[in-house]
Parts: sequence; C-alpha cells; structure tokens
Amino acid sequence: MPIKTIIEPFRIKSVEPIRWTTREEREQLLRAAHYNLFLLPAEDVLIDLLTDSGTGAMSTRQWAALMEGDESYAGSKSFDHFRQSVQDIFGYKHVIPTHQGRAAERILFSVMCKKGDVVPNNTHFDTTRANVEAVGAEAVDLPIREGREPATLHPFKGNMDVGALEGLIARVGRERVPLVMLTITNNSGGGQPVSLENIRAVRAVCQRHGIPLYFDACRFAENAYFIKLREPGCAAKTPKAIAQEIFSLGDGCTMSAKKDGLANIGGFLCTNDDALAQQEKSLLILTEGYPTYGGLAGRDLEAIGVGIQEALEEDYLRYRIVSTAYLGKHVSEQGVPIVQPPGGHAVYLDARAFLPQIPPAQFPGVALAAELYLEGGIRSVEIGTLMFGAAARMDLVRLAIPRRVYTQSHMDYVIEVILEVWKRREQIRGLKLTYEAPFLRHFTARLEVA
Ligand SMILES: Cc1ncc(COP(=O)(O)O)c(C=O)c1O
Repeated sequence: MPIKTIIEPFRIKSVEPIRWTTREEREQLLRAAHYNLFLLPAEDVLIDLLTDSGTGAMSTRQWAALMEGDESYAGSKSFDHFRQSVQDIFGYKHVIPTHQGRAAERILFSVMCKKGDVVPNNTHFDTTRANVEAVGAEAVDLPIREGREPATLHPFKGNMDVGALEGLIARVGRERVPLVMLTITNNSGGGQPVSLENIRAVRAVCQRHGIPLYFDACRFAENAYFIKLREPGCAAKTPKAIAQEIFSLGDGCTMSAKKDGLANIGGFLCTNDDALAQQEKSLLILTEGYPTYGGLAGRDLEAIGVGIQEALEEDYLRYRIVSTAYLGKHVSEQGVPIVQPPGGHAVYLDARAFLPQIPPAQFPGVALAAELYLEGGIRSVEIGTLMFGAAARMDLVRLAIPRRVYTQSHMDYVIEVILEVWKRREQIRGLKLTYEAPFLRHFTARLEVA
C-alpha cells in the first residue's frame, strides 16, 4: 500500500528555541499590551501565528544565494538574477523592486489613481485599501456571495463577483476606474483562491472597457496549487505553468515577497506599460532607492529570486496546503466555526459565531485572539471590526502559518489550545477601545475589558 502520510519536505539544519510563559505572566503581559497582540514582545509568544509575512524559513539554496549578493548601488548582478526569475514566472516587461508589498502598492496607486477614482478588488488587504484611500480614491470589495459566508463551502471563494464588477463600472463610469485588482489568494476573505475561469472572466470585462488588470500576487503559488487541485482540466499542469497562465491574463502586479517569495523582506511591482514604469521608477527613486535595488540589499534580491521558484515546487506546496487543512479539520470537527474550506496560508476562526454573546462593536475577534494567547501563548490576529471599522463584514481570527517553520506537533498543540478556549467560550467578554490611531488603527490600538 502506498504511504499516505505527508511529511515536512525538509530536514532542519538550524533551530531557534521558543519560550514558555506561565498563565500568570501572560495575564500581566496581555494587560501591558492593552489586549493588542501586536504590542507583545515576540519572545513572550510560544507559537507565533500573527502573520505568514516575512516569517518563513529560508532554504539552504537561499542562504547560499545570499552570499552571491552584489551590493553595487547601480546595475547589480543580483538585480539581473532577480529580474530573470521574476520574469520567468510573471512574464511582465518591467520589474521594479520595493522593500515590501505596500511600497509597491503606494507607488502603483500614486501613479494610476486620483481623487474620486474607484478601485475594485475581490477584497482589498488592509494596506491595499489604505494606499488606495491615501490618494483619495475609493476601494470597493466585490467578492462573490459565497466569499462573505464563512461556513459555505466553495472551491474558489476568492473569486470576484463579475456581475457586480460590470454593475460598478456602469454606475461610476469607466473613466473613474483606472484599474481592477485581483488578490490571489484573497487574504482578507479567508486566504481563498481565485479560479482561472474567474480571472479570465474578469479579464474579459476589463478588456471590454479598456481597463488594466493587476494582481496582488502575494500568495500566487498557493493560488496556483489550489487551481491544480480544484479546477477542472488543471490537474496535469505544474503550479509554475498555472502561475504563468494567471499572470499572462493581467497587465501587472504588486507583490510582497515576504509571502510566496519565501523571503524575510522584499517585494516588487510589475507592469507591461512603458510610460507607467517610467513614472513608477521616478517615485521609487524618491523614497525606495535606485531601480536596480529599490530599498533592498543585493542579497535580498538573490533570496527572492530563488524563493519565488521554490514556492512553486510541488512537494512544498502539497505539505503547505495539507498542514493548513490539518489544523482547520481538527478544530472544525469539534464544532469550532472556521471559514470553510481552510485557506492556503491560514485558518480563520469565525469569531462572531465562536462568541455570539459579543457584538461586533466589542471586537469579538480581538477578544478571541487574547484568549488564545492566555490559554497557550499563541499569537494570532483579528481581521474584522478593529482592522476595518464599520466596513468589516466578518470578525475573523487569523492563524497564519509561517512557511517551513512549525512542525505537525506544533499544530497539534495549537489545536489543543483552541479546543480548550472553545470549551469555556461562554465566559469570554468583549472589549472596548481606549486609544486608536487615525488610520491602520489595529497595529497600535489599546483596549480594555468592556
Ligand atoms: C494580500 C496582501 N496584499 C498586500 C500585503 C502587503 O504586503 P507587505 O506586508 O509586504 O507590505 C499583504 C501583507 O500581508 C497581503 O496579505
């Protein structure tokens, strides 16, 4: 009989100890952090599922590539390696390195959008929304209906509602829509993939109206693998071939290499448009750096060049998707409400269903995240009313899994902690704000028990 167990497809060469705290210590630490887990010292966290961004483990090939870093200010060899690797997968004419994804977003929207414009997306990530709004444009989320219903099963819950896109363009007028974006996978919508069929349909609408299509490509490899697993006719294709097909349907992308770049820092902006690229590079020089390094060291460019290729390896993707699904399956089997099916990089607990006694205005997601920390030193993040204010359609707690970092026994521990909190869910109380910043308030907000 063939062996069914899917293992971590790597050996561990270097280890980083993690530290236990007592429950009493965590109670104190939580109060000192004003119930906002962003404000905790990382050394007081046992299992850190705050984000999968920049938290992955690099491979021996990436560490070796670091040593090849050419730190020349202009014309660095590392930039050529980086650009070749990006173009091999993404296929776009201009590749502009940035220090991370949001820098690419800021440059893209500064160049393409103005006050009064409207940017449709399946669902904007928080930094994407903030960067659209920072130039006076409106960020509009158009997920399919199933994408807004946590418990509903659908293979491609990240899809955009194509009819709603048509309706929006008809209502506001083509001149006010400078670009359409698709976030693959849809992070704020539960890490859910977008199908090739949906990308083609969105592309057709864009083409009909002459509107460019851009991807927020942070988790492109995971999205490609979901297409391979779930979309009819794609099983025999490699994840890389699928990724190449996705990007051939667009005009450019923003990318945070801290996700499927398997790097600890970095990002890029791509476009096929020469005139836009010119303006983008001018802005890049103003705040990021010269166009052959864009806020990164040559060694970072090397690590990203290797990382985006490794992220498409099938052994890696199988382990990645299976380990996320394992966490989701074992908690949902015990009745814990999660966004179904589990996403690629994270499991999202549905805090409104987990804690129905807490109204959205009292931040059920923040309260649940605080309890997971108290119970077992696990750090997660709220994606809901604290992050998006009244625009939040759901209150989720995201357990994002860093790439190649934790093993199955770590996941077993996380499952046990969630189930302990589930047992005493009725005693959990809501929170109220004592401080909020004018934008992206979730990073620095302070709260107390309501
Ligand atoms: C979908 C999506 N877009 C953009 C970003 C921003 O990338 P960065 O954190 O590198 O600025 C993120 C980060 O988590 C993301 O998940």
